Amino acid sequence: MLLDGRIAAAAAKQLIKEETALLVGQYKITPHLAAILVGNNGASETYVASKVKNCEEVGFTSTLIRLEDTVSENELLATIQKLNSDAEINGILVQLPLPKHISEANIIEAIHPSKDVDGFHPMNVGRLVQGLDTFIPATPYGILLMLEHFKIPSKGKHTVVIGRSNIVGRPMSILMSSNIPFGNSTVTLCHSQTADLASHCLQADIVVAALGIPGFVKSTMVKEGAVIIDVGITRVIDTTTKKGYKIIGDVDFEEVSKKASAITPVPGGVGLMTIIGLLKNTLLAYKKQHLAN
Ligand code: GUN
Repeated sequence: MLLDGRIAAAAAKQLIKEETALLVGQYKITPHLAAILVGNNGASETYVASKVKNCEEVGFTSTLIRLEDTVSENELLATIQKLNSDAEINGILVQLPLPKHISEANIIEAIHPSKDVDGFHPMNVGRLVQGLDTFIPATPYGILLMLEHFKIPSKGKHTVVIGRSNIVGRPMSILMSSNIPFGNSTVTLCHSQTADLASHCLQADIVVAALGIPGFVKSTMVKEGAVIIDVGITRVIDTTTKKGYKIIGDVDFEEVSKKASAITPVPGGVGLMTIIGLLKNTLLAYKKQHLAN
């Protein structure tokens, strides 16, 4: 089965749009996401443009703040403080990676936890670990929604996550070992220092590949019938395409798809669900900020 992100994302987006219309009609306030983009990294430009476009499509307001890559950490912190105290802004997102002279940790900690729609603030990560109400980072959230859409339970299964980033691998490993719908499995977290990674992978009922090496997961590394979630989105030069590059996942789709019972394509898979995770978090932030009182 192809785990088509276009289908799952379209269904989720329609529900978000309907809920937003209801809430806006009732409260006369529109959910508002502020996205900060530092510099002009090509991939980041594309992601942020897509986030902004999707916000508009479901009826949110969005503000894109562009800063030069020479911006100081203090200037960026001041921009965040302003958004923190702006009652009209429900969610704040700082696109990563940031230029080397800026501490990502300092920036993430400066975002008020109630507006941290990326779910990267240490307080929100701590809440995630403890199974408390929080903002689930967008990509792991999107993957859970994908599993839910295609009715792929993980209860009692063995999940192997490859990659230990704060954005995907680490939170994904925690979610897949939680006691929540679709995240209720035994988890092995593999990374660059894992010995004999293939032998771990072969044990997996569900593989989540999030290491950023194109075509890394081969058919010899996966069990017959495994579910394969490909988080990779590496740009590889391809002069035959209009853009001059193509997007390659972490899984060798051609061969692994013959063995897998279900697999996400790249592009058109997890990437589209990441946007859904962000939209759901923004709506959640809005509801918590406006409807609590
Ligand atoms: N860079 C890569 N993925 C993400 C993400 O989910 N959020 C942000 N802010 N930056 C990213």
